[in-house]
Amino acid sequence: MRVRKKKNGAQRIEACSALLISDKEALSSPENIFDDSAPLHLEIGCGKGNFACGMAEKYPDVNFIAMEKVSDVCCVALEKAMKRAEDRERDNLRFLIGDAKILDEAMKPNSVDCIYLNFSDPWPKKGHAKRRLTHSSFLEIYRKLLREDGILKLKTDNDGLFASSLEQFELCGLEIVWKTENLHESEMAEENVMTEYEANFSSKGVTIKSAWVKFPKVGEETENA
Ligand SMILES: C[S@@+](CC[C@H](N)C(=O)[O-])C[C@H]1O[C@@H](n2cnc3c(N)ncnc32)[C@H](O)[C@@H]1O
Repeated sequence: MRVRKKKNGAQRIEACSALLISDKEALSSPENIFDDSAPLHLEIGCGKGNFACGMAEKYPDVNFIAMEKVSDVCCVALEKAMKRAEDRERDNLRFLIGDAKILDEAMKPNSVDCIYLNFSDPWPKKGHAKRRLTHSSFLEIYRKLLREDGILKLKTDNDGLFASSLEQFELCGLEIVWKTENLHESEMAEENVMTEYEANFSSKGVTIKSAWVKFPKVGEETENA
């Protein structure tokens, strides 16, 4: 996602520090971030934060961490979340600036109930496949983070990314729990919270694909995995 370089970006982010996880060590014990043991959901590549804000408002009994690697983009999300603080019944939303790769080392294993990948960059060139957030190297990170029965939820406008993600899921032995080629016409349409990209693509008539997958329980892996 591109945004213009923010003037005073660092100060603007600092002004939102109440919502920012600045000490990455805190991720090793996320129960201290929210001070309770509600289910933890993680959005990777949150962009400008519409989904994270909407979900935190809609599901007050869930804690949300929204991660974004571009600090100027996260600044927009943070400021949005600060403005909408009163719309949240509970203090259940935090942001993290960084690349998903750090989660491997930084985040407590088996601590996450749900991971969202919304409109992740498709990286269409074959040589860039490893950068896709559904590449097997990232899936192995998510495998560690998710609790048993935890779910990974993907939505995208992009046919190429959707197809390659399904291939990677199969390669890593993930089970498809639910899948659609048209999210907005599906039985999940009502509970869906739109992202900025989603609103933009669907206003242009692009259909949104989605898949929910889970990792096999330890000891129940298939031969592919
Ligand atoms: C195409 S945008 C979609 C933004 C938002 N999810 C939406 O649907 O409106 C993808 C976002 O993912 C972020 N991103 C890409 N790779 C990432 C990574 N490895 N770790 C964290 N964020 C990443 C990008 O910086 C960008 O903001």
